[in-house]
Amino acid sequence: MPVTNPQITIIVGTQWGDEGKGKVTDFFAGESDFVVRFQGGNNAGHTVVVDDQVYKLHLIPSGVIYGRPVSVIGNGVVINPEALIAELAYLEKLHILPRLMVSDRAHVIMPYHIVMDDALTGHQGNLAAGSTKRGIAPVYADKMYRHGIRMVDLLEPDIFKEKLEKSYQFNKNLIEKVLQGKLDETLESIYNRYLSYGQQLAPYIKDISSILYAAYKEKKSLLFEGAQGISLDVDHGIYPHTTSSNTAAGHVAVGTGVSFRNIDRIIGVAKAYVTRVGISPFPTEIDGSQGDALRDKGNEFGTTTGRPRRIGWLDLVQLRQAIRVNGLSELALTKLDVLSGLDKLLVCTNYRVDDKSLTEVPASLATYRSAVPVYETLPGWGSLDSSIPARGYNALPENLRAYIRFIEDSLQINISIISVGPQRHQTILK
Ligand code: GDP
Ligand code: IMO
Ligand code: MG
Repeated sequence: MPVTNPQITIIVGTQWGDEGKGKVTDFFAGESDFVVRFQGGNNAGHTVVVDDQVYKLHLIPSGVIYGRPVSVIGNGVVINPEALIAELAYLEKLHILPRLMVSDRAHVIMPYHIVMDDALTGHQGNLAAGSTKRGIAPVYADKMYRHGIRMVDLLEPDIFKEKLEKSYQFNKNLIEKVLQGKLDETLESIYNRYLSYGQQLAPYIKDISSILYAAYKEKKSLLFEGAQGISLDVDHGIYPHTTSSNTAAGHVAVGTGVSFRNIDRIIGVAKAYVTRVGISPFPTEIDGSQGDALRDKGNEFGTTTGRPRRIGWLDLVQLRQAIRVNGLSELALTKLDVLSGLDKLLVCTNYRVDDKSLTEVPASLATYRSAVPVYETLPGWGSLDSSIPARGYNALPENLRAYIRFIEDSLQINISIISVGPQRHQTILK
């Protein structure tokens, strides 16, 4: 199916992650020169399915399956070098050799960040987000403390030693003296191990901002792939049940060094229902057998941790925020096939808190915890014929199109991309 990309396109998650960003990124990557990650780390798990081959990516952008676009990891991403090397080896086994570039300014996830992540979760108790234990919060904290290690440091043994001594001691003390955890690996062992990772990754480490700037001037097309989703954004999400990066489209500028002045198209990926892996209040959560049935049908188990995802009805309050904060030009709606066969579908239009109606996500955790969803009920549709993607939008059942229209009318946004299966070709452009 032909896709014509404008020069800069951003793809972001509009819910709690796992909306199908990998699938939508892959769909657009065929016509992109560069596909770029700008935040998050290997807490992300993005799935691409092409001809029954399933690819699971954590750090390398989903455009890599196409081969042609350059895969870029921007400075806003936090990198576990061991995980990156493993992902390159995984792709090599599948005969994919990425044209990879990694920002010299990206921060490095160190072993003590992963140990600390575990200890922190215990410490935070009810206020924890149920992290992926990949060291995300501690590495971003060290970046802000300004004793973090950057990719470029792994190439400079003396500077690396100087910085590691500060960072190691700080983290060891925090882990052992404050959080009652244990950091076993010695500074020397980490130093040697990470210098070796630096040598292995050296060919990829570059000044990404300058390279992307030059590419933009040469009229190359750039596709930015978000990780996580707006409700996990550290500023706009359900704080503190969030991740530790800004997932919003605005972060492309600081997370890659490409100015937002030039951005043409911002696509928000939304699942036709909502899933949440991890801990937080979840107003539209479906308990019991209906939630279990959707989890099984939608294969809703975390790509990164394998945890069962919690299931809920579509939440327009959440999407309203995603549209506003990201400046979305349109939505891609995924997994509509999973909802097939239901008699009726619920869509949350607003929350009720005491006797007030809320149409926007509140900052107050107390208010969010007590939010009761107000639902509109829509009629369901039967199973979807496998020929539908080839026949296009008008081949979709009328009730499914009515579901799409209801969302479009309620939110005043165009749903331009409709996904009815995990495969690349199971995508309909409206
Ligand atoms: P991401 O983190 O946003 O990239 O999403 P994940 O890859 O973690 O989770 C989405 C899952 O849904 C993956 O297993 C995809 O293969 C699958 N998927 C994506 N779109 C569709 C769809 O339209 N229908 C179905 N049944 N599965 C889909
Ligand atoms: P993709 O890109 C779904 C969740 C975790 C936890 C919270 C904080 O695949 O959509 P962290 O490890 O980041 O400190 O965890 O965020 N989380 C995700 N949930 N999809 C993701 O990524 C996620 N990345 C983090 O479950 O609640
Ligand atoms: Mg995912």
